[in-house]
Amino acid sequence: MPSVNLKFSSRQKSLPIPNDIIELKIDSLSFNGGRGVGRYGGIVVFVHATAPGETVRARVLTRKARFWTAEVIEILQPSPWRRTPPCPVANQCGGCCWQHVEYSEQVIQKRKILSASLRGLRKQGGEWEDLPFQPAPNEFHYRNRIQLQNRNGQFGFFTKRSHDLVTVDECWIADPQINSQLSNLKPQTAPKIEIAVNSQDGGFSQVNAAQNTVLKSLVLARIKGNPEWVLDLYAGSGNFTGPLAEKLKSAIAAIELSAAAVQRGRRQIQNVTWHAGDVAEVLQQLEPSKGAGLVLLDPPRLGCTVKVLEQLVRHAPKQIIYVSCNPTTFARDAEHLVRSGRYLVESVQGLDMFPQTEHVELVASLCAAT
Ligand SMILES: C[S@@+](CC[C@H](N)C(=O)[O-])C[C@H]1O[C@@H](n2cnc3c(N)ncnc32)[C@H](O)[C@@H]1O
Repeated sequence: MPSVNLKFSSRQKSLPIPNDIIELKIDSLSFNGGRGVGRYGGIVVFVHATAPGETVRARVLTRKARFWTAEVIEILQPSPWRRTPPCPVANQCGGCCWQHVEYSEQVIQKRKILSASLRGLRKQGGEWEDLPFQPAPNEFHYRNRIQLQNRNGQFGFFTKRSHDLVTVDECWIADPQINSQLSNLKPQTAPKIEIAVNSQDGGFSQVNAAQNTVLKSLVLARIKGNPEWVLDLYAGSGNFTGPLAEKLKSAIAAIELSAAAVQRGRRQIQNVTWHAGDVAEVLQQLEPSKGAGLVLLDPPRLGCTVKVLEQLVRHAPKQIIYVSCNPTTFARDAEHLVRSGRYLVESVQGLDMFPQTEHVELVASLCAAT
């Protein structure tokens, strides 16, 4: 572990220990946990519930070699982007970590997070300047599905950093149709319940319908030419497969682990070959198709395994469109493909599917290097 050169102000006699109070300026917001990030004596300090540009007094909670965590005690100079959260329980509830920050600044911070994640990744013919980033159409009431904890007939969300319950009779990021049901919930025994605008039988579905429409159009707009074949990996029940089948005349195959999602996809979308199974295994079994192909992939937050990336290279599509909800694992996977010498990253577009939270979504296009 490289040593960290700590510089302290003349007033600071020794390194602060947990429970000591420090003063620091918050420079940015972080991806992991959405905390404010500042520096004290050169070391990174994460402080919950702070906003960029503000100076705070904070109590040191933990000290690791490379970073500390602290909790805010007093805001000495508030951020120009600090606001009173509209939700009365925003400061306790674990659902939203950025409601105290103006939405325009949330978008700027998300773009910076994306940009920082791409720092080590080579871009075809240039730098990652002026990354396009699409804000969400609605900063509130965008979720078409929420999950509530049930504690002895009381419904709510876990508090930040604990499993205590915050009861709610309205959720500011949930669709009004969901909120209208919150005050009339019947007693139930299940530890968790889900309320959805259009309930479906389990599995993954995009929760921000308005921004999902934007996401699909961003994906379609990136397709180059007329691919002869298309593989839609991590397809769910066909969120992208349907629009692909409508737009293209290509032979389309979709791969998805959840058998229930595949069943729904088969019912809803015609002229697509569905494979229920693990992406790496199915790709290994399939013979690579001939001609110019497109692979669209939208993996979970952990990204792809090396086995999946190796199979992508073996199938050798002319273009890869990568949808990701985690810029860190996207950058790792894209770097793997670039290092194979077979692909170049030509564009990355950020977008916000989850206002009031630290989550960042992106659509990237990689093209064959030859
Ligand atoms: C981020 S979701 C995307 C779903 C879909 N593209 C959409 O937009 O609704 C990831 C999907 O990958 C599936 N999945 C996770 N691990 C998988 C694996 N190893 N092989 C195939 N599918 C997998 C999940 O079931 C989930 O449907």
